[in-house]
Amino acid sequence: MSARKPLMAGNWKMFKTPAQTAEFFEKFLPLVSASTHADVLICPPFVDLAAAVSAAAGSNVAVGAQNCFWETKEGAFTGEVSAPMIKAAGCSAVIIGHSERRQFFGETDATVLKRTQAALASGLLPVVCVGERLEERESGKTEDVLRTQFTDGIAPLSADDFAKIVIAYEPVWAIGTGKVATPEMAADAHRCLRSLVEAKYGKDAAQAVRILYGGSVKPDNVKGLMAQVDIDGSLVGGASLDPVGFASIVNF
Ligand code: PGA
Repeated sequence: MSARKPLMAGNWKMFKTPAQTAEFFEKFLPLVSASTHADVLICPPFVDLAAAVSAAAGSNVAVGAQNCFWETKEGAFTGEVSAPMIKAAGCSAVIIGHSERRQFFGETDATVLKRTQAALASGLLPVVCVGERLEERESGKTEDVLRTQFTDGIAPLSADDFAKIVIAYEPVWAIGTGKVATPEMAADAHRCLRSLVEAKYGKDAAQAVRILYGGSVKPDNVKGLMAQVDIDGSLVGGASLDPVGFASIVNF
């Protein structure tokens, strides 16, 4: 068993209002207040961050954003939110390079890298997402895709910076589809990522980095996934919206 503390993270995507956020926390916090085995993180939409931060104050639940712009200085960037602003709002983490951003909003490995660097410069924990699409898996390219995403989006980070990130492996075909990767498939991808980390940053860094699995994680499949030695937590979309369900995932 590894010494890595699991991180159980919820990605709310474009769901919930501030009032619904407060309601969620009211039900969720008592269910996880004794959950010291894992770090717990909720990533709501920007407009809900204030409500989440205020509801989570003094608890063991951290709040993060789902994206940040790479420019860290204030400026004329209509519609963008900077990492220092997210930090100032009381967040401690940010999801970077989610496949929905890659698919719908032109996110590339190059912009993933810039956003990650901005998050780190602002003291946020970046949760950097990688993962292959269905056609890439079916044509046997999973490891090539992970290698490219790692090499171009993550590996340019300094060793000091790398030590401060979390990686999330999210096979695109498993996101929101109900088609979870088998624990063995996920474990293979996690091993592949950890060996890429080892080749670039060395054995200690590879043993230290937390690699989360994401894609149709539910209360009834989380245990099998978390039993894999290389899986250090979950990034949960749909199933993180329900306080009771997500608490049971956190307490796998
Ligand atoms: P899902 O989403 O759990 O709804 O499949 C996971 C994610 O996109 O982070």
